[in-house]
Amino acid sequence: MGRVALVTGGSRGIGAAISSALKEAGYAVAATYAGNDEAAAKFTKETGIRTYKFDVGDYEACGAGIARIAADLGPVDVLVNNAGITRDAMFHKMTPQMWKEVIDTNLTGLFNMTHQVWGGMRDRKFGRVINISSINGQKGQAGQANYSAAKAGDLGFTKALAQEGARAGITVNAICPGYIATEMVKAIDEKVLTERIIPQIPVGRLGEPEEIARIVVFLASDEAGFITGSTVSANGGQFFV
Ligand code: CAA
Repeated sequence: MGRVALVTGGSRGIGAAISSALKEAGYAVAATYAGNDEAAAKFTKETGIRTYKFDVGDYEACGAGIARIAADLGPVDVLVNNAGITRDAMFHKMTPQMWKEVIDTNLTGLFNMTHQVWGGMRDRKFGRVINISSINGQKGQAGQANYSAAKAGDLGFTKALAQEGARAGITVNAICPGYIATEMVKAIDEKVLTERIIPQIPVGRLGEPEEIARIVVFLASDEAGFITGSTVSANGGQFFV
């Protein structure tokens, strides 16, 4: 197939499952990460997927990183904007820094990455942009005013860009995972997770990263060419749009 896929935050959590699933489907995959060198090295050793360290919140760093990826693998055909962080606190305790860090990574990161590959996708008349939003961007979540705002912004970004990309053969879609068994979710206080969150999930369990990865592989495929501007929810029945 020879297509190149880039997964931000692609060496851990949902991103790692996405990177592996895309590799399995035949893509040349590049995974980016922000800080955890040890996890990235382990991921590369186990999967053979190359990892690239840069901050998706920094436009210049994204440009330089994508240029390195293009030199190694070729121009990016599939971009999965997955990198995300949490800085949870009730709003009265949320600092400007907690707000800024989450917006920079989870919302501005989509601009910084997509803007740099968009021209190439337009020129080649093919592209797939898949944005990993969240159930909490759809429904809002107490303790996550920053995260919910960014993830809701990701959905607006998806819908606007889908309209611009359609005639150039570029589809832009979002996935809204619910609570998935990753380090991010496991970092939630055990009592909050078991007493408040899991009882709200009708299927009665957390999701698995692979359950999100399979959606990405489908949206990236030629068969999904008529799907654009969509939001796919995968949340165990916790919230219906
Ligand atoms: N709605 C309304 N009020 C709530 C509430 C809710 N959902 N949750 C908590 N409160 C209230 C509490 O009852 C409490 O009220 P009192 O002071 O009157 O007792 C008050 O808010 C403070 O609650 P906590 O004791 O929990 O406050 P804290 O400062 O210890 O912790 C918190 C705050 C860190 C936000 C914690 O509540 C928490 O971790 N909540 C879960 C947030 C969450 O779901 N994060 C998702 C992370 S995973 C992710 O983001 C991935 C994804 O995409 C799904």
